[in-house]
Amino acid sequence: MLTFRTAGESHGQALIALVEGFPSNLKVDFEFIDSELKRRQGGYGRGGRMKIEKDRVRFLSGVRHGKTLGSPIAMMIENRDWPNWEEIMSVQEVTSDAAQKRTVTRPRPGHTDLAGSLKFNQVDARNILERSSARETTARVAAGGLAKVFLKTFGIEVLSHTTAIGAASVPQDFAVTWEQLESLRSDEVVHCAIPDISNRMVEEIEKAQKEGDTIGGTFEVIARGVPTGLGSHVAWDTRLDGQLAQAIMSINAVKAVEVGIGVQGAFRKGSDVHDEIAYDAEALSFRRLTNRAGGLEGGITNGEDLRVTGYLKPIPTLKKALRSVDMITKEPFVAQHERSDTCTVPAAGVIGETMVALVLARAFLEKFGGDSIEETSRNYAGYLEQVRSY
Ligand SMILES: Cc1cc2nc3c(=O)[nH]c(=O)nc-3n(C[C@H](O)[C@H](O)[C@H](O)COP(=O)(O)O)c2cc1C
Repeated sequence: MLTFRTAGESHGQALIALVEGFPSNLKVDFEFIDSELKRRQGGYGRGGRMKIEKDRVRFLSGVRHGKTLGSPIAMMIENRDWPNWEEIMSVQEVTSDAAQKRTVTRPRPGHTDLAGSLKFNQVDARNILERSSARETTARVAAGGLAKVFLKTFGIEVLSHTTAIGAASVPQDFAVTWEQLESLRSDEVVHCAIPDISNRMVEEIEKAQKEGDTIGGTFEVIARGVPTGLGSHVAWDTRLDGQLAQAIMSINAVKAVEVGIGVQGAFRKGSDVHDEIAYDAEALSFRRLTNRAGGLEGGITNGEDLRVTGYLKPIPTLKKALRSVDMITKEPFVAQHERSDTCTVPAAGVIGETMVALVLARAFLEKFGGDSIEETSRNYAGYLEQVRSY
């Protein structure tokens, strides 16, 4: 079973990912994983913090001479900002003066500050926000980078594009090509495949920035090369659509998830939703004439591209004043914040790819198993043969 856990605070010393369950002999592409971290930090509308951090992963265990050992893999990404926070975030007790620095008692509406402080009995919301910050997703992207390297060995690739920011969105029937997705990999703007809409998205962000506000949107993650048969209809928690929804929903600020044309599908007739089936005698495989289902039927992948969309709310830290109440004095105040992101949809798309890659890698290993990559490959080849000769 592939599992991963992250540790680390936003302004702590480092972020850690601990990944267990990858087979041995997987060749690790270190440069690729670093490039994924860079992608997560980009996108128009990010705040100053991302200019300070230049993330790079350091492997601490589970890899030797460039290949996985089959043992737990520990990965570390240092926070470059740490020297400025060493005392404030010290793991040791500090003087009360130092402990008072950068305390947070004014909870932001829409953030974890108040609910988390009440739950964990904290008078300083910094003890909550340091972990609930999306900086945590850096460690996820490192783990997801490894999952992508694993999947690529079997011809499976995962990419994303931005489909809406504020009022600017791609047309409902827009079908992005794989070539467009690949060229967006290095896009430094908003990761939208249509130039005119990309410009409008930038305008939307700039408008929100001017107004001291923030702005949300949607991203679509697409995986190609996915075989038929990952996930299962037999139980509620084995359905891959459910697992993907949970994984995407776990990304900070994502408030809805859609598979294929999910939302529109609810308002159409069945004949305008379901993908008709054909057989390709040359390739010895079944295929769908359309892919509105987003590559999943009954919680099982059906061999078409997997398509999942995440919907992001606007992020909660904004300059525009919102009413709140001080946690200690209980006095109302009007929140005023300085440095923050305005829009994080392009970065969330990269994190979405990571979560999809991790879910797919887990489902793949659940089905094909193997302690070494050679064993997994043999098992996979046997299954593909079975499907072809069906
Ligand atoms: C890549 C990324 C960056 C984010 N940056 C910020 C930020 O700078 N300020 C902020 O208030 N929220 C930011 N968020 C959103 C918060 O982390 C999130 O709203 C908060 O943890 C509460 O969780 P919830 O919105 O899922 O309920 C970011 C989210 C993502 C995906």
